[in-house]
Amino acid sequence: MLEQLTLNDMLGIPEEVADKSEYIIDKFSADDFCSETERVTLEKKYEPILEVTKKFDRRSVSYQLSKKDALHSWLKYKEGFSADLVNILLDDMRAQPGDTIMDPFMGSGTTALVCQMRGINSIGYDIMPISAVSIKAKADILRYDINELKRLVDEFSEIELPKGYTKTTPYITITNTAYPEYNEKMIQFVTDWIEVSDFSDEAKNLFKLCIINSLERCSYTSKSGQYLSWDSRSKKVIQANIEREKKGQRLLPQHHCREIVENIKEAVLEELRHVLDDIRTIQSNGATETDAKIEFKQNSVLFELPEIDSDILKGVITSPPYCNRYDYTRTYALELVYLGLEEETIKEMRQALLSCTVESKSKIIALKEYYQKIGASDRFDYIYGAIQSNAAFKEILASLEKRKANGDLNNNGVLRMVEGYFTELAFIYAELYRTCKKGAMVAFVNDNVRYGGEVIPVDYLSTSFAEQFGFKSVKVYCLKQQKGNSSQQMKKFGRVALRKSVTIWEK
Ligand SMILES: C[S@@+](CC[C@H](N)C(=O)[O-])C[C@H]1O[C@@H](n2cnc3c(N)ncnc32)[C@H](O)[C@@H]1O
Repeated sequence: MLEQLTLNDMLGIPEEVADKSEYIIDKFSADDFCSETERVTLEKKYEPILEVTKKFDRRSVSYQLSKKDALHSWLKYKEGFSADLVNILLDDMRAQPGDTIMDPFMGSGTTALVCQMRGINSIGYDIMPISAVSIKAKADILRYDINELKRLVDEFSEIELPKGYTKTTPYITITNTAYPEYNEKMIQFVTDWIEVSDFSDEAKNLFKLCIINSLERCSYTSKSGQYLSWDSRSKKVIQANIEREKKGQRLLPQHHCREIVENIKEAVLEELRHVLDDIRTIQSNGATETDAKIEFKQNSVLFELPEIDSDILKGVITSPPYCNRYDYTRTYALELVYLGLEEETIKEMRQALLSCTVESKSKIIALKEYYQKIGASDRFDYIYGAIQSNAAFKEILASLEKRKANGDLNNNGVLRMVEGYFTELAFIYAELYRTCKKGAMVAFVNDNVRYGGEVIPVDYLSTSFAEQFGFKSVKVYCLKQQKGNSSQQMKKFGRVALRKSVTIWEK
């Protein structure tokens, strides 16, 4: 199927972008420090199925589609992919109403929502409760009562923080004093207000989404990938500087996350008006509800997927966390704490993340015990054996070990992260092979990475694991835009091509 109709064809993109040379890696180990034979072999093996594609972005969409896109972007979630990408891939897969598609890493829920609009069932997982709020809010799109939402906006606009109110929204250590005083009280006040109100569950959940979307801009923090970045006007930084001054230490620099920390009431009102406007437009478009089901489970996919029936999926569309040290539990700490998570739960969630931070610990013993518990020890042995026999993976781990010994890794946790990341992903690839029907297509969006001068071709390594478990590799779509090299790596080891890819496999 895909051989005949490529993404470029579907988007009407001329073949001028088909030049692959800039996207092919000719040096995996800077200064020839480590062996790269296996990675070079993969690079040659998959070159014939590499296709550079100009865009997976949303520039080509119509007004109507862009309104739908507005719905998909309701949750402010930088890590999400576009509805367009999901639509294109569903077309490629020839997915029909009644089929089932899986997204093992649901995030804001775009795969599930696009499927629902097309009458396609979906199954998905995410460890973060933010996903549940986002998916419900969007899936309810045709069910909202506009009059009720107008009343919600009206009543909320009238709310004032009572004089002498002392309760504040909860904090954990890494979010302590994140909000100015008025905001920390008002967040709590309106949360209690909506809770005891007579609004419907749909309206209450939508309100929750609007609060979640407002938290960051009403705080002294900003998301910066690996952690929360703090504004020097926050009590936390002011206090730290008082201590530092006493000890004669250098003061933390003046840094503003944003010029103005917004007022929470104004921000939530703006969000509410924005979603109300989208709801009006989408409802008046005459769209009708499909009977497609969204099955979402808030848990680690590693400990759910093995129990799903075999041969049920028509396809998979997903983007896992990237192997880039990004810590969702820190960057989304404000939102997680708002949703009621406590310090310990957030720490546990950090360890439940697919190993993508330097703090991640190995999950292999827990996985082994879990497979034992569900009576699938043989399956565990087969999958783990296959992972350990992958020559390119062995080469990558050996190179990182050598780089570590040479002091080239700026954090030694990188080695454990990379080992855990691919081991866990490979378990998922194996389980997806089992759960897919014959002919099903699997699409993974991911970025290649480099640590200590060693390029890790995430797209090709993943494809080689997928083949080990029985998939046929169909395409590696590589986005025109490449991933930037980190300035540290570039200075020390020079520049390399780091692909952003969508790998397509078929059962
Ligand atoms: C790149 S994001 C997915 C974005 C999604 N495609 C979208 O459009 O919104 C990766 C997601 O994987 C989730 N995740 C990380 N580890 C997980 C695990 N072990 N099981 C399930 N989900 C996990 C993260 O919480 C995050 O939401």
